[in-house]
Amino acid sequence: MDQITFYLNGTKESVPSHLSHLTLSDYLRYERNLTGTKVVCAEGDCGACSVLKINTQTPGPLTAVNSCIHPLVNCHGNHIVTVEALAQKEKLHPSQKAMIDCHGSQCGFCTPGFVVALAGLCEKKKVEGEKLIKAAEVKNALTGNLCRCTGYESIIEAGVEMDPLAQASLTERYHTPEVQADLNKITARPMEINSSKFSFYAPKKLEDAQKYLAQNSDCQIVAGATDLGVVYNKRFDRPKKLLSLHLISECYRLEQKQGRVFVGAQVTLSALRNFLKKDFPEYSHYLDVFASPLIKNNSTLIGNIQTASPIGDNAPVMLTTDALVHLYNGTQAREVALKDYFKSYRVTEKRPEELITGISFQIPSNKYYKIEKVCVRKDMDISIVNMAVAIENQNGTISSIEIALGGVAATPIRLKKTEAFLKNKKIDDSVLENALKMAQTEFTPLSDHRASAGYRRTLVHNLLKHHLDTGAAV
Ligand code: FES
Ligand code: FES
Repeated sequence: MDQITFYLNGTKESVPSHLSHLTLSDYLRYERNLTGTKVVCAEGDCGACSVLKINTQTPGPLTAVNSCIHPLVNCHGNHIVTVEALAQKEKLHPSQKAMIDCHGSQCGFCTPGFVVALAGLCEKKKVEGEKLIKAAEVKNALTGNLCRCTGYESIIEAGVEMDPLAQASLTERYHTPEVQADLNKITARPMEINSSKFSFYAPKKLEDAQKYLAQNSDCQIVAGATDLGVVYNKRFDRPKKLLSLHLISECYRLEQKQGRVFVGAQVTLSALRNFLKKDFPEYSHYLDVFASPLIKNNSTLIGNIQTASPIGDNAPVMLTTDALVHLYNGTQAREVALKDYFKSYRVTEKRPEELITGISFQIPSNKYYKIEKVCVRKDMDISIVNMAVAIENQNGTISSIEIALGGVAATPIRLKKTEAFLKNKKIDDSVLENALKMAQTEFTPLSDHRASAGYRRTLVHNLLKHHLDTGAAV
């Protein structure tokens, strides 16, 4: 039986097989006594458990992730750096020094997470060769870190104070070419753990993943595992069998051909956000407020779509960009248009024996393309309603329109009747009024703790009115 093997703070680590089912944070704290990594919320919301990670399949600088929702098995072949390894002998890391200088800590429970997330920002800036850090960059890097007592001003000041070029980066210090070469060797072969309590399989080929899936219908497929980690910690629902795609290099495919983007099953939302920055800035910006960087450094587009949540934040974008879900059953590949993919609440067209190999979509060339996410907080919040609208008009007449909504039905939806009604029409008061009325007949929202059904209807009415008004005028 294989063992989880990874690098921890620059040293190779092999995990005894009876510990394979743990989360990364539990392993660090209870098995390695690395208690600088704290666990507070245990669901990816507070950042107290932040650690730095390099995925060997996509080597780059260390990036911050949440260890509380990170299955230890997904560390296999990767490199993890914890808060204990930031300082170099007596010399503090720039993030630690700045937090002290700026009085960024009080009770200190959140502090390790903050210094790790700030160290992640330092790593990025170091690669970019940039000495100066803006307050906006600090705020963005820290959207997933909560402090209950100090207040954020001094912490943001600390982030701005840091000098990323002051010393060698942690990536240079720990992730040497020798370490990368050793990890390449480790990840050159599949990895399998089988015990009576827990099984894990990380193949190197899609064919092998599919075979395993066909023979183990009870296994759970994991990519970023950010949803799974929450279920694991909060519902104590511990999956007994995991199939991970993280060693399959083709699952990291991210490319654009003639405006069509292919996103492989292991591509993180952070990678997607950076990839689309120039060619699809509306979506790239939307991904900024999607979740914290700590989550996005692990979570995937495919995971977000396949959970089929009615309020999944990527679904409206994909529903208005001609998205296709690429499925593979071992002998055949097929593609299902996303507009036909969601069947009912949390149920999709994917057959049990199929793997999702990726999602492709078209970067919109419409004159008008907008995305909305309405929630109580700006960052790190589940939407009440989300929406994407694509409008093409010729001299004021709508030649094509696509409207997708989340949070108002059992699945994300397109307003097909309303779209058909608006096609080839000029927007005047009467058309607008009829379109808005028709839209309301195409969904039945629920009332829940986030918002009432009436509030959701009003949101859709107001958002749609705004976009039809402005979209028809461009
Ligand atoms: Fe809160 Fe992990 S403990 S994000
Ligand atoms: Fe106490 Fe941040 S210093 S929670």
